[in-house]
Amino acid sequence: MEILRTVAELRAWSRLERNGGGNTVGLVPTMGALHEGHASLIRAAAASCGRVAVSIFVNPTQFGPNEDFARYPRTFEADCALAEAAGADVVFAPSVEELYPQGETAFVEVAGLGDRLDGASRPGHFRGVATVVAKLMIAAEPDLAFFGQKDAAQVAVLRRMVTDLRLATEIVVCPIVREADGLALSSRNVYLSAEERERALTLSRAIRQAEALYAAGERRAARFTQAVRMTFAEMPQISVDYIALVDGATLEPVEIAAPGSLFAVAAWVGATRLIDNAILK
Ligand code: PAJ
Repeated sequence: MEILRTVAELRAWSRLERNGGGNTVGLVPTMGALHEGHASLIRAAAASCGRVAVSIFVNPTQFGPNEDFARYPRTFEADCALAEAAGADVVFAPSVEELYPQGETAFVEVAGLGDRLDGASRPGHFRGVATVVAKLMIAAEPDLAFFGQKDAAQVAVLRRMVTDLRLATEIVVCPIVREADGLALSSRNVYLSAEERERALTLSRAIRQAEALYAAGERRAARFTQAVRMTFAEMPQISVDYIALVDGATLEPVEIAAPGSLFAVAAWVGATRLIDNAILK
């Protein structure tokens, strides 16, 4: 497996594979600290694309000034081994200067959507995400790009970006990969102490609760949020950021749940912010 460091190398590789080799190219954008959730995306990409590029880049512009950019886990050697085993053909690991040669002077903002859910509590976050993913798509010119349902608001923002900018890449969304006890895999789970790890299960419990309510016929948004708020109230060490029932595409709040509605939660477990969600069906 090759490691590419520059946009020019990535673009040349992709064009050679696509035009010269007749391959389809899949892109899996990541920030590294790879786990089984990332591996599932890489495997999905390898299953449907002739060639797969995995990007590993801790993107500074999507972190707020008081967030964890500096201490975000960086495990490059292990990441390359995992990516290769899951089916990656190349890893693209640029420097910050390579992707932002003049700082953040040109950027992509997805109006409206970018300020909802995580965008509301992390101002500028989705502008950073949209900008870096646009850069990656413009550089790699992938046929398909793979993202996890774990970051549901990110998926909505990126779908809107691809549609509105008329990009030639199709977005593929893969299901949330969880630990046996329900905790959604996340690179940030390594921050949790044993006690916090236990408390963090409240998020997946809340998601299952919402799914059960929906399956039992409940449709009123207020009932969902009320019930889940009570579940969180039993765990006072966790502080809720949001509990939301929204339209999965627009991220606008809905009063009445319908197939395709997104139930999403975000909460602080100690100093670690975790998210989880489900599409109701
Ligand atoms: P990162 O958090 O590294 O996640 C990379 C991809 O893996 C995202 O699409 C995310 O949704 C997916 N993923 C993470 N945990 C998952 C899980 N438990 N199950 C399934 N998929 C999971 O998301 C980002 O990086 C960045 O914002 C990025 C898109 C790379 C832009 O910088």
